[in-house]
Amino acid sequence: MDAPAIPLGFGPAAQRDLRGRVLRDLRISVVDRCNFRCPYCMPEDQYPRDHEFLSKAERLRFEEIERLTRIFATLGVHKLRLTGGEPLLRRDLPELVRKLAAVPGIDDVALTTNGSLLAPQAQALREAGLQRITLSLDTIVPETFRRMSGGRGEVGVVLEAIAAAERAGFAPLKLNVVVMRGTNDDEVLGLLERFRGSGHIVRFIEYMDVGTCNDWRRDLVVPSAELRARIAARWPLRELEPNYGGEVARRYAFADGGGEIGFISSVTEPFCGDCSRARLSADGRLYTCLFAGSGHDLRGPLRAGIGDAELAGLIRAVWSAREDRYSELRSEATSASREHVEMYAIGG
Ligand code: GTP
Ligand code: 5AD
Ligand code: SF4
Ligand code: SF4
Repeated sequence: MDAPAIPLGFGPAAQRDLRGRVLRDLRISVVDRCNFRCPYCMPEDQYPRDHEFLSKAERLRFEEIERLTRIFATLGVHKLRLTGGEPLLRRDLPELVRKLAAVPGIDDVALTTNGSLLAPQAQALREAGLQRITLSLDTIVPETFRRMSGGRGEVGVVLEAIAAAERAGFAPLKLNVVVMRGTNDDEVLGLLERFRGSGHIVRFIEYMDVGTCNDWRRDLVVPSAELRARIAARWPLRELEPNYGGEVARRYAFADGGGEIGFISSVTEPFCGDCSRARLSADGRLYTCLFAGSGHDLRGPLRAGIGDAELAGLIRAVWSAREDRYSELRSEATSASREHVEMYAIGG
């Protein structure tokens, strides 16, 4: 393998895109399959059980993901998030975590999961070096949960996963709630009642027009400002400073000391201005936006035997030509492209 293209003794060079945004995070989708069929991501009627997902040969092997991560780290990435589909459907995930946590320059490895397969693996993931877990939990009402997982999930299993993650040392967790008007928006206070005081951070995500098949409608979006007012009427809130520049969630604390919550408002308050995230799909395409129409193939060059320096050059070229700001364009009501990569292919 070639030596990485940075001189010894120097930190990685910051890669800036056409809007001056620095490359800092890499979100890696390890598998495109999922055992849930959430209506906002992979609606059941469009993804039946026999839907063809990527084959094993099409997916990047762990060694390939590790090599790409080493190169991304030389380009300034220090934060990784493993996603899917459902990442725990990929066998031996702790082994991948172990490899990635050992990459020089990587100081944060996190996982986004639906929680259905987490309980038995939480301890092994922790021991492998996973630092943080984000769980998707749209409601704690069993019937709604069933509906919002396309009839595949049970809320009790996810609540058990939360307990297992706590025991394995992952607390505080982030709990992501996609809010859809008329589906789970009336259940938000009940969910907060359950988690206030637990130390976990519940984050409400505006339903987004990602992918091509969720029949997104603006009237199904509950603007964060509306939701925040509803919550604050019950429990007064106080805004908190961001943890770091480019944070996607706006943070609030319950004024009575009940803990922290967050709002991710990509529709009503886009945050493209300092978006530092690159996304790698399970088949090795590099996407520079959650709403990108297409990705840049890295698997082809990788399997054709390209050297590290050339691969770094390729990634640098993609990032430096980047000008994506889909959410801002959508809110400016211009003709933002409707050709989008599917959410389950790049994991949110
Ligand atoms: P950490 O700060 O690393 O804990 O994670 P995060 O706050 O970035 O949150 P996470 O990665 O869990 O993202 C939560 C959700 O926010 C995702 O599932 C997406 O729905 C949305 N999101 C994350 N990044 C982006 C982005 O770049 N653009 C848009 N439009 N939405 C995003
Ligand atoms: N809108 C908002 N968030 C979404 N996610 C998936 N699809 C959408 C959508 N249409 C989020 C889920 C999960 C993460 C993987 O992506 O909440 O937390
Ligand atoms: Fe699966 Fe997550 Fe998509 Fe739901 S949002 S279908 S759990 S990948
Ligand atoms: Fe980044 Fe694209 Fe999301 Fe804007 S819409 S924050 S550019 S991923």
